[in-house]
Amino acid sequence: MSEGVDPDFESLLEFIKESRGFDFTGYKRSSVQRRVERRMQQIDVTSFAEYLDRLQVDQDEFTQLFNTILINVTAFFRDPEAWRELQQEVVPGLLAPKTRGESIRIWSAGCASGEEAYALAILLAEQVGPEEFRRRVKVYATDVDEDALSAARHATYGEKDLQALPEDLRAKYFERNGTRFSFRGDLRHSVIFGRNDLVQDAPIGRLDLLVCRNTLMYLNAETQAQVLRRFHFALNPTGVLFLGKAEMLLSHSRLFLPIDLKRRFFRKAEQVDPGQRFAVAHGRPEDGPPGHEVRLEDETLLHSPLATIVVNADEVVATTNQRAEAQLGVTKREIGRIFTDLDLCQRVGGLRSAYDDVRRNRSPMWLHEVQFSRSATETLFFDIQLVPLDGEGSGRPSVAVFFSDVTRYQRLNGELQTAQRQVETAYEELQSTVEELETTNEELQSTVEELETTNEELQSTVEELETTNEELQSTNDELQSMNDELRERTVQLDEANDFLESVLGSLRTAVVVVDTELIVRAWNGQADDLWGLRSDETIGQHLLNLDIGLPTERLRPLVRGALNGDGDGALRIEAINRRGRTVRLAVSASPLRLRHSGPTGAIVLMDQAGETTEAEADPPDPSDPAGPAPTP
Ligand SMILES: C[S@@+](CC[C@H](N)C(=O)[O-])C[C@H]1O[C@@H](n2cnc3c(N)ncnc32)[C@H](O)[C@@H]1O
Repeated sequence: MSEGVDPDFESLLEFIKESRGFDFTGYKRSSVQRRVERRMQQIDVTSFAEYLDRLQVDQDEFTQLFNTILINVTAFFRDPEAWRELQQEVVPGLLAPKTRGESIRIWSAGCASGEEAYALAILLAEQVGPEEFRRRVKVYATDVDEDALSAARHATYGEKDLQALPEDLRAKYFERNGTRFSFRGDLRHSVIFGRNDLVQDAPIGRLDLLVCRNTLMYLNAETQAQVLRRFHFALNPTGVLFLGKAEMLLSHSRLFLPIDLKRRFFRKAEQVDPGQRFAVAHGRPEDGPPGHEVRLEDETLLHSPLATIVVNADEVVATTNQRAEAQLGVTKREIGRIFTDLDLCQRVGGLRSAYDDVRRNRSPMWLHEVQFSRSATETLFFDIQLVPLDGEGSGRPSVAVFFSDVTRYQRLNGELQTAQRQVETAYEELQSTVEELETTNEELQSTVEELETTNEELQSTVEELETTNEELQSTNDELQSMNDELRERTVQLDEANDFLESVLGSLRTAVVVVDTELIVRAWNGQADDLWGLRSDETIGQHLLNLDIGLPTERLRPLVRGALNGDGDGALRIEAINRRGRTVRLAVSASPLRLRHSGPTGAIVLMDQAGETTEAEADPPDPSDPAGPAPTP
């Protein structure tokens, strides 16, 4: 396939640009063509026209093609010597003039799968410490390739990818997840990824360090020049540009001055600003054929990606460009009008006074993130640079005003801040959940400990109970045998009782047993017959209080005598039995002795000698107050 301009290849590039927004026309033609041809070979396509047809029907083929053209090869600290210089010389030089807490902005343009961006993060964190890093540093990392960006956002790499990293840095900045290693979450938040096409999109501004390595080299000289102009605009006055080993500043070398040409560090040239370039455009060429330069400069201004308005020394709008028309509504018709009369000066806050300052002081000025309402519904944000021209004249200078559209980054920043706030809130919630969990855990811990102690106590109580149980068991056994004995005794007692009762019942004599208090303890059937009272009516009653026909005053000395141990006594008395008849009774009382003790009661025997009528009854012996004399 040929090297020259191939209309079919041009159509193919045009098709890719229109259908996918990828503009490869600015890339080195021979290299892009070679890569497309390589891809065509892989799928047996022989012509660009045929390949265009394939792309139209097979959307996935775009991915394959982009993977072939956009080479994502990258590594941590690729080209170590240059990175060493960055660490030892360049970054300290950038940090030195910064005040405490001042932000540090870095852009990794063409970051591929993120290694370069994280390497920058590590380098900065090593210099300022993780705390300061989180507070001050932002590493913006962009690429045109979405697949590469999504890999970069994951921040996870294999062991082989980290080979270039010293062991201590790996341990410090990566956490192992199985066989993979993830970049530290707390520092990850400061690395912000986004899609940016260097050829078409506005740059990220106010940079201290712009790292664009092994990316520009794929672009042709013209496109490189265009990108470098944006880089120049994007860098702070003291900012540094860090290119790849194989990259030279092929054009626009006047925009940058080498710090170290070998390692590809450049600083922004002070005087060679767009202002001077426009001074050349307006008739004061410094070198080269004037007509050609002027045409080129006008062309450049016309197609510049920055909306530009040039105001001459008489404050009249001298020229504007296409972007100014598209973004600010400032058309060619405004040329010749007084700049401060433009509607734009009223609508962009601070523009008019900045313009006056630049004219008065003859020094450039920046306005950052200025709001501009393009319509009722659309608001844009611009970084505006005002540059005095005709610097050497004695009168007031002309002024070039450049508008860089930073709306996307402003929004991104806003979204980022919202996301950051959400993350912070989520983090705080997580924190309090963790604290709650910790408290719950502590409570659980103490509950478990309490339970363990209670368990111990229960254990010993159980042991005590077991012992008590054993003791009770043996007491129970003893009681059981006592009970058995008692039962036996009771049986014996019952038998003895029955025997006694039957003895008492079988006697033909009435028998009454009293205790020492003369309370009746036994009363047999004959006594029952004699007096008409049953044993249950008499037992427990005082003998002398019983309502029977006995003359108790005669009975008392007899019973007392037996109780006093005077031996047996007897007397004959007459009494009234239950039938109301007078009976003659032989009454005797004997002491009741329990084994060897003294008398514990008395046994009174009442034997009926016979019934008499009242006439027959013996009159009481007046000489014997206790009744008739006892029979021997
Ligand atoms: C070889 S890698 C370089 C990666 C890294 N900068 C380094 O040096 O290790 C080139 C990267 O540039 C990206 N790239 C190519 N054209 C681009 C463009 N127009 N805008 C932004 N990135 C582009 C590719 O997608 C690729 O990821």
